[in-house]
Amino acid sequence: MSEPFLIGDRMTGGYGRGADILHGCTVSVDRGEIAVIVGPNGAGKSTAMKAVFGMLNIHSGSVRLDGEDITALTPQARVAKGMAFVPQTNNIFTSMSVEENLEMGAFLRRDDISGTMDEVYHLFPILKEKRRQAAGELSGGQRQQVAVGRALMTRPSVLMLDEPTAGVSPIVMDELFDRIIEVARTGISILMVEQNARQALEIADKGYVLVQGRNAYTDTGKALLADPEVRRTFLGG
Ligand SMILES: Nc1ncnc2c1ncn2[C@@H]1O[C@H](COP(=O)(O)OP(=O)(O)OP(=O)(O)O)[C@@H](O)[C@H]1O
Ligand SMILES: [Mg+2]
Repeated sequence: MSEPFLIGDRMTGGYGRGADILHGCTVSVDRGEIAVIVGPNGAGKSTAMKAVFGMLNIHSGSVRLDGEDITALTPQARVAKGMAFVPQTNNIFTSMSVEENLEMGAFLRRDDISGTMDEVYHLFPILKEKRRQAAGELSGGQRQQVAVGRALMTRPSVLMLDEPTAGVSPIVMDELFDRIIEVARTGISILMVEQNARQALEIADKGYVLVQGRNAYTDTGKALLADPEVRRTFLGG
C-alpha cells in the first residue's frame, strides 16, 4: 500500500504535562478523498486533529504530508505547506466582516487573492451577498461557510474540519456536505470530524471510529455503515 497523502501515524500525546489523550492513534487521508473521524464525546477527535495540525506535542508517532515528516513543524509552517484547519470553536472573527474574514485567511499569500475569493463566493453564494456584514451576525450555517471559506483562501491541498455541521439544521448539514464533496472533487483532501456520524460516513471514502484516544474501527465509510457492531455501538442501531 502506498503512503497516504496526509497521515498522523500512531500518535501518542496529550496537553502540556497532563496524561496522554491519544494512544497510538492513526488518522490519514488520500489525495482528493474525504476521511471522517467519528466517536463519542471526549474520544479525542479534536485532539487528534490538533495533533495533525501541530497544536499539540506528540511524544511518539509522526505526522507526514506527501511523504515528508512534518512532526516538528509549527501550525503556521504547516499552513505554508498546504494544510488548512477549521477548529471546532472560535473559527471566525465575529466583529469583522465576511470579506475581512476571507482576507485574513489569505494572510500568508503575497499574490492576488481575488480569484480565490471569487471561487469561495461561487461555492457559498450567500457569503457574497453578506460580504460587508459582520460575520457574528450570520446564522450558524453561514458562519460555518465563512470558516470553511476562510480556510480555502490559503488554497490548501488538505482541508481539516472539526465538526463543520455543529449546531446546524439537517437541511443545512446536507447542503454543507454537498459543498464539502464539491471541494474534494477539486482535488483537495478533506479530513473531518463529525458528530453526525451516519451522514458523514455516507460521504466518506475512509472512516475512523475513535474511542478513548485509540482507533476502534477503520474502514471505508460504506463498510463501517454496514458493520453491525459499529452500527449498534456508535450509530444507534
Ligand atoms: N486544552 C485541553 N487541555 C487539557 N485537556 C483537554 C484539552 N482539550 C481537551 N482535553 C481533554 O482531552 C480529552 C479529549 O477531548 P477532545 O476535545 O479531543 O474530544 P472530542 O472527541 O473532540 O469530543 P467532542 O465530541 O465533545 O468534541 C477529554 O478528556 C478532554 O477533557
Ligand atoms: Mg471535539
